[in-house]
Amino acid sequence: MASCVISSVPILLLHFILFFSNRLVAVQTQEIPLATPGSQGSRLTTYIIHVDAPPPHLRADPEGREAWHRSFLPVHLMDSGEQRLLYSYEHAITGFAARLTEEELAVVREMDGFLAAYPDELIPLQTTHSPEYLKLQASRVWNNSNYGEGVIIGVLDSGINPDHPSFVCDLPPPPSTWKGQCDFGPDRCNRLIGARGFTLGLRAMHAEGLAGEISLGKAPFDPTGHGTHVASTAAGCFVDAAAASAYLSVYKVCDSVGCTKSDILVGFDAAISDRVHVASLSIGTSSSDFYSDMVAVGGFRAMEEGIFVIYAAGNYGPSPHTLSNDSPWQLTVGATTMDRSIRATVGLGNGLEFYSESLHQPGYFGPTQRPLVLGGSSMILADTVREGNTTLAEAHVLPVSRVSSYVGLAIKQYITSGSNATATIVFNGTVTEEQLTPAVAYFSSRGPSIRSPGILKPDIVAPGVNILAAWPTPVGTPDAQSSFFVISGTSMATPHVSGMAALIKSPHPTWSPAAIKSMLMTSANQVGNAGKRIEDHLGNPASGFDVGAGKVDARGAIDTSVVYEITSSDYIAYLCSLGYTRLQILIMVGHDVNCSSVISIKEDELNYPTFRISLNAANNFRREVTRTLTNLGPLETSRTTLNPEFVGVSATVLPATLTFSSGEKKQYTVTFAKSGAGTGFTVSGLLGWPCNGTILRNAAVVSY
Ligand SMILES: *[C@@H]1O[C@H](CO)[C@@H](O)[C@H](O)[C@H]1NC(C)=O
Ligand SMILES: *[C@@H]1O[C@H](CO)[C@@H](O)[C@H](O)[C@H]1NC(C)=O
Ligand SMILES: *[C@@H]1O[C@H](CO)[C@@H](O)[C@H](O)[C@H]1NC(C)=O
Ligand SMILES: *[C@@H]1O[C@H](CO)[C@@H](O)[C@H](O)[C@H]1NC(C)=O
Ligand SMILES: *[C@@H]1O[C@H](CO)[C@@H](O)[C@H](O)[C@H]1NC(C)=O
Ligand SMILES: *[C@@H]1O[C@H](CO)[C@@H](O)[C@H](O)[C@H]1NC(C)=O
Repeated sequence: MASCVISSVPILLLHFILFFSNRLVAVQTQEIPLATPGSQGSRLTTYIIHVDAPPPHLRADPEGREAWHRSFLPVHLMDSGEQRLLYSYEHAITGFAARLTEEELAVVREMDGFLAAYPDELIPLQTTHSPEYLKLQASRVWNNSNYGEGVIIGVLDSGINPDHPSFVCDLPPPPSTWKGQCDFGPDRCNRLIGARGFTLGLRAMHAEGLAGEISLGKAPFDPTGHGTHVASTAAGCFVDAAAASAYLSVYKVCDSVGCTKSDILVGFDAAISDRVHVASLSIGTSSSDFYSDMVAVGGFRAMEEGIFVIYAAGNYGPSPHTLSNDSPWQLTVGATTMDRSIRATVGLGNGLEFYSESLHQPGYFGPTQRPLVLGGSSMILADTVREGNTTLAEAHVLPVSRVSSYVGLAIKQYITSGSNATATIVFNGTVTEEQLTPAVAYFSSRGPSIRSPGILKPDIVAPGVNILAAWPTPVGTPDAQSSFFVISGTSMATPHVSGMAALIKSPHPTWSPAAIKSMLMTSANQVGNAGKRIEDHLGNPASGFDVGAGKVDARGAIDTSVVYEITSSDYIAYLCSLGYTRLQILIMVGHDVNCSSVISIKEDELNYPTFRISLNAANNFRREVTRTLTNLGPLETSRTTLNPEFVGVSATVLPATLTFSSGEKKQYTVTFAKSGAGTGFTVSGLLGWPCNGTILRNAAVVSY
């Protein structure tokens, strides 16, 4: 039996950052009102309505379930003849979505079996800007790899262009567990094994005057580009680092205006019935309590069915507390830059050169100096201070180049210095720099989590700035089949991680969502290629609230077999510790839980792969937490940690060495204690468990 014991390896990877945390104020989240204030009596609103499970004799078939849900409706049809019932959910929640007036809802609320009702809401897609149309040829030959084989990635988004070459490459038939359908027909469905459209919620919201212009097109076609781009990043024939042998199942639940919760829930319903392995959602909104966040509830039910749910962190950065999708049973993905840029160089008449990016790289624009004025034949767009060092490469009609705010300031100073100001833009094309350290994008939403501050979020970061991927073009236009486009957002970071999850799931088909998540997070890295810590958008070292465990690293993720498992009863014990009522927990988990007979699990004690610890007078500036590691591999293995030193905090790990046989679980405790003077500090660091060339890393953020 092979074994490996490595001890006393200094935690050289540790870099500590120190900053004031007096902004860590708990913010009360608002409950969603049950009815739109001031709505007219006859006005219809879509509600998501939670009720008891159908009685046993109605449970067996879909018609019985639907009949049970219809029995709550005082009125079944609209004047136009359309159904009031939009969806009768099977898995994602215990309940249905229907269009009701306020008066009708009041009747429904009095019925036996009614639990709660929430108005449907629109959730935005997480791209930073509406992209302009541009065709780019794939600039290099992408190699097919055999990775991700047999894994089905479900993408809940704006649909897909099935004819794009990213999705047209022969794969063997899907696994026998697959239960879904592809509505494009057999000719257009190969890698794409599932494609369906669910847009009743969006149509209803549009009819209610709440969704603006919608452009749904023919389902499940993608009229926006977002869904096609995201899907090709997760699993595409031509995209590097994607799971090239994974199958795709696409659930069209969004339009360019966003997606409704009622449609997302039915997308989850279908993904659960179809038996996808990974669900990827590049959407996000402000966070509310878990029981009123239907997306978190649908994600919980999917997790219970063994589906690994991956979400965008949101594009609401860079301020703290801007996360969406931060529940612990799903993976929350932030966005960074990468080592590839679509480069332009701004050269001033005084000889200074500045970094800039532009997607439009016009050949006719020679490097001669031109007068530098406001407006004119070309443009230098300076970002605002909020955007920091993040420069987005955009497609502009004029020769335009974007520079960061501090470069903009330098250029302005040069213009106003009284000299005869001139400038040029040199378009360098795509530049890859091994030494470039990833930086968190200004827009990437930041922790701490409002509704669960004891869990470190976001979980992980991945490339999400200037991402090149498939783009649908109108049929009949030249190059309609092979266009690509560059866009930015945590939307673009999310499918990178979904593809990576498929790479891990493929050789480990029985692993739980928590195990795959643990593998992704403990192999993530907080330093870039050049050994320098990931930066934030201002060039400072990124904190745990910016990057969580760090950036995904495919290389480390395949080698380790020691993981942090979390079961659904662990999550329920955690929900009990949040003080949720019996009704609130019932809405979430779908069955009755008596928290008095459950040993609750505090947030910082959930068996999470990262730590978020608060030291304060109430705990005497000392907190001991226990974690359990499980060896899912066939080999005996052993891992040792050093007691890491944080700035102002000591962390003692006992026992320091854990030896596992195959399948064995082992516990350890970490005691975090304040060792520095003063209070009001937050420090980020890592516990590292090296073994056989890989390091299992646990990111930690400690406040004192
Ligand atoms: C593609 O893969 C083959 C075999 O693994 C390798 O020889 C070739 O260099 C790769 N091509 C590119 C462009 O990466
Ligand atoms: C400003 O620069 C332009 C172009 O180089 C030149 O033609 C012009 O004479 C300059 N004017 C002054 C006042 O230096
Ligand atoms: C871009 O081109 C300019 C002019 O040739 C050159 O000075 C600069 O170094 C180039 N930058 C990169 C990143 O290639
Ligand atoms: C980031 O911005 C700072 C100023 O805020 C600047 O000093 C630094 O050079 C920038 N880094 C990059 C990589 O542009
Ligand atoms: C909940 O559990 C407690 C402790 O086991 C028990 O005393 C109580 O009666 C239970 N409540 C209900 C409603 O079952
Ligand atoms: C460690 O590496 C050695 C040599 O590659 C291998 O034989 C052994 O199985 C590995 N041990 C574990 C626990 O992976």
